[in-house]
Amino acid sequence: MTSLVPYIDARTVEIHYTKHHQWYVDKLNWLIKWTEFENMWLEDIVLKANWVIFNNAAQIWNHTFYRDGLIPWWTVPSGNILEKINAKFWSFDVFKENLTNSAVWNFGSGWTWLVKNQIWDIEILNTSNADCPITKWLIPLLTVDVREHAYYLNYQNRRIEYVNNRWNIVNWDSVNEILW
Ligand code: FE2
Repeated sequence: MTSLVPYIDARTVEIHYTKHHQWYVDKLNWLIKWTEFENMWLEDIVLKANWVIFNNAAQIWNHTFYRDGLIPWWTVPSGNILEKINAKFWSFDVFKENLTNSAVWNFGSGWTWLVKNQIWDIEILNTSNADCPITKWLIPLLTVDVREHAYYLNYQNRRIEYVNNRWNIVNWDSVNEILW
């Protein structure tokens, strides 16, 4: 649980996944028992369910995607994703500033995403609460959890520091794999 230190502290990682993430999993399993959703893939539940079931399923999907996109070492984007970023935002620095600003200004709880749209272009997108881009037929490439439980222990109200540090632990190989 310490591999993301100093960017995300061990206690935050532990609570995030053993309490928050696990709570969504436990609640969803309880909610879908004996329902049409019981044997569905998670993505199908996210796309088909409403209200409480959707919220819990989408938060599991979002948190799993977030966790899988973190690596404990710094890398730089290359290959296809770098070409897409340069074509859309002119440079990686401009892209980084845009996504950071979106995350900082994402009001309240939610997620800030880099997604691939249906015309194979990339976009920055803010969602609120549990909302998930796959319901808009967008393919997530990268995300930042901006709910306070993702950073408050270490950063308190300084979301901008948390988001700036997110850039040190991006799994760009995984972004490239999803992109194509
Ligand atoms: Fe979270």
